[in-house]
Amino acid sequence: MNYSDLIMKKRDGLSLSQAEIEFIVRGISDKTMPDYQVAAWAMAVYFQGMDEEETTQLALAMARSGDIVDLSQVKGITVDKHSTGGVGDKTTLVAVPIAAAAGVPVAKMSGRGLGHTGGTIDKFESIPGFQAERDYDAFIRQVNHLRAAVVSQTGNLVPADKRLYAIRDLTATVESIPLIASSIMSKKLASGADGIVLDVKVGRGAFMKDIAASRRLAEAMVSIGHGAGKRMVAVLSAMDQPLGFMVGNALEVIEAMDTLQGQGPEDLTELSLRLAAEMILLGQKAFKLTEALEISREMLASGKAAHKLNQLIAWQGGSWNEAGPAYGLPQAEIKAAVNAQQGGFVRSIDAFAVGRAAMHLGAGREQLGDIIDHAVGIQLLKKCGDEVKPGEPLAIMHYNLPQRKTAAQQLLNQAFVIASTKPALQPLIIDVIRAE
Ligand code: URA
Repeated sequence: MNYSDLIMKKRDGLSLSQAEIEFIVRGISDKTMPDYQVAAWAMAVYFQGMDEEETTQLALAMARSGDIVDLSQVKGITVDKHSTGGVGDKTTLVAVPIAAAAGVPVAKMSGRGLGHTGGTIDKFESIPGFQAERDYDAFIRQVNHLRAAVVSQTGNLVPADKRLYAIRDLTATVESIPLIASSIMSKKLASGADGIVLDVKVGRGAFMKDIAASRRLAEAMVSIGHGAGKRMVAVLSAMDQPLGFMVGNALEVIEAMDTLQGQGPEDLTELSLRLAAEMILLGQKAFKLTEALEISREMLASGKAAHKLNQLIAWQGGSWNEAGPAYGLPQAEIKAAVNAQQGGFVRSIDAFAVGRAAMHLGAGREQLGDIIDHAVGIQLLKKCGDEVKPGEPLAIMHYNLPQRKTAAQQLLNQAFVIASTKPALQPLIIDVIRAE
């Protein structure tokens, strides 16, 4: 077997066997396959695609390229939740405590953010003292005791994906459904949970801009997980406008806690309850969706889910002031409004532009290794369908460095589209795809 024959085979639209895919993944991991051949192969996959079997084999081979987290010491059916990345998406901070309060063990590994979307670990790290790095024994002990832990990914999880993704990023081969599906699922398979709830975002602020492509991505990921023996479900949810009102790390933690206390925005509450209900179903704490949703609502209304988040934060060294302003989280020194240039109704809010604006203020990383400012971000005051008067504030920028303001302000001005008539609102939950 040699790399150029396999690149040619894929270029000509033929399927690669399991052994051939494993050969390529080994070459990516141990670097015997040079960058130019990895790039050529990725481009061949980009144009020719991969069938279901190839995509599953690619995900499995990549998952095995590094450590596989052993969750066999955790009692019960462990369930993970993953979002393909959105703006203002803090559902993990809400759905995980709800599912854990309902008795579902959640052993979650999350990443830091890059680009216009924020990472869950960055959000948790805005809580003073919070420790995202835990050793394996402490992680398992915490999950068995609390039913929930959220830690950062270890250094040796799916090394093949790290190299392949870096090459794809530089060679215009990221936007390939089999490559995205196997990249995401390889990390989920290596994370060891028995069940995985995927939140596949659709729209301007998401990887996939249209419903058909998102559905294909969701189906590919569900099929990979199912083929690997996992319990799987994918929720397709809209990401045309940011989720909730807050974008930025500490601001999102505040909004998540407000939501757990029953005072969150409608969209964030609805999606988090649904994702938690799907986790409860996979974890077999309920067997019908209506029952699982009922349990989710009860965990929220009783305060048990809020208590669970408090316990998780305290267990991982975080300290916050539950009763104090902004829960004692860092707050930015400067606040400035972005005002409507005309009156009417908010027709759309470009989530991608809002994410970029938050990044300009310092909430996100342009490049790996950039230092972020946990306090900064954007607070939306209006969402799609809201009426606005000329000059009325649409959003508030929270920031610390004055020189960061102009670029963010320009992006926010462009992000809001105001029309003279009230737009029809799109559903937040578009579809749910289950393994057969
Ligand atoms: N996220 C990933 O982890 N991998 C991709 O290929 C795209 C998004």
